[in-house]
This record gives sequence, C-alpha cells and structure tokens, in this order.
Amino acid sequence: MKLEVFENSEIVDIEVAKKIIHVIKEKPNALICIAGGDTPKGVFKQLIDAQKNNCCDFKEVSFISLDEWVGISDETPGSCKQTLYDGLYTPLNLKESQIHFFNGKAESMIDECKQMDKIVAEHDGIDFVLLGIGMNGHLGFNEPGTNTKNSSVLQLSPTTKEVSVKYFNKELPLRYGITLGMSQLTQAKNIVLMATSEKKREIVNLTFRGEKTNQVPSSLMQGTHAILCVDEEAGRDIK
Ligand code: F6R
Repeated sequence: MKLEVFENSEIVDIEVAKKIIHVIKEKPNALICIAGGDTPKGVFKQLIDAQKNNCCDFKEVSFISLDEWVGISDETPGSCKQTLYDGLYTPLNLKESQIHFFNGKAESMIDECKQMDKIVAEHDGIDFVLLGIGMNGHLGFNEPGTNTKNSSVLQLSPTTKEVSVKYFNKELPLRYGITLGMSQLTQAKNIVLMATSEKKREIVNLTFRGEKTNQVPSSLMQGTHAILCVDEEAGRDIK
C-alpha cells in the first residue's frame, strides 16, 4: 500500500478525482465503484465539475455500488443509494443502464449478491474503487473479523450501528449490510482508500502501520497496490 498525504481535504478531493478521471480517459467504459458515506462527497463535486468543463466523459462508464444497509429503501435519506444518486449519478446525468446498485430491500439478498457478482465478473473486475475507511476499519460493510471473497450480507458491528446515526439523524433498527466482498475490492485494478480529518487519525495509523489483520479490514490492503490518500490531519501519526 502506498501513502499519499495532502495538505488539506480539498486537495485530497482534487487528487483522488484526477485518479478516477485518468482511469476513465484510459478506459472510457470502465467499471467504477465509489463508496457512500461522507468522505467522497468532495470528490463527487470534482467529478461533476470535470464533466461541466468537458474534462471527462462519463457516457460509457458503468458504476457499481459498494454497499447498502439491509432493510433500507433507496428513498430513505442517508441510504447509500440516495447518497450516490443525489451527490453524483443524477448531477452527472447518467442513464439507469450505467448504474448497478444493491437493493437493501430486495426479497432475496442471496440473489442480490449473485447479481452484483455477475456484473463484476462480466466487466472482468472493477477498474477503480474509491473506499472510505470506517471508524473500525471496515471497507464497505466488510466488518472487523470477516474476510469475504464475493458479495455478502454481514452483521453490522456495534461501532457501525453507532456511527449510522450521523447519516439518518435517528437510530434505525439496522442489523445487516450488503457489500461487495474483500477479494473483489483487493482485486480491483486501481484502489484508493481515502480518509480525512482528525477523527480518522487512529484508524489511518492502524490501516497503514498496524498489524495486517481482519480485525482491521482496511489493514488487509497492506501489500496490495492500493493507495491511501489522506489529509495532514488524518495522516499526522504516520508521516
Ligand atoms: C459507505 C461505506 C462505508 C464508509 C465508511 C466511512 O458506503 O461503504 O464503508 O465508506 O464507513 O464513512 P464516512 O466516509 O462517512 O466516514
């Protein structure tokens, strides 16, 4: 894993967006996966601006979702789907055929996983994945103690349930998440782990300098071609 530390979060947004744009220029029909959550929101803005300024053409790109809260509909503000649609897909004017998203309310979660695995396989893997790092080191909903290959439904950790309140403004009876698997993420052709702000300092250090263990899923990126992009606040302990 390579480390890139930038002066502030705005510069991280710009640099991460440049990496995505580079991949799309090289491969206009790339399969791109971008996490929900708060961390990538500045990157959304950079990508939307790039399209407005004719610096990037998203017409042939496919987007696949990283994860979703099980039991949460896409109409729920705070769901991963709503975050990605409102923040990125709708402003980019994407066609529905370009988007593949987990349905957190699907009747069969097994079929939902199979469907997503099929899409990854049909594209010969993910070309670029942008991951946020959870406070417990989860990637997608690959929670501490798990190490999945393909798409899976996993129990949410107590930390993830606690943190979820920031997205929904209230406690919801969340128990499971549906997520792409760790092997699908580690095998992506380009991987960026992104973390900003002081509150991510400890988990960023564990990710990069800590023991490689599935107790901290983000540390499983050690020894891969992933790039960890952080601002100075998040990267203070590892500089
Ligand atoms: C969201 C997701 C999560 C978040 C992580 C960081 O789709 O996959 O793994 O990326 O929890 O969340 P933020 O960015 O809100 O700190």
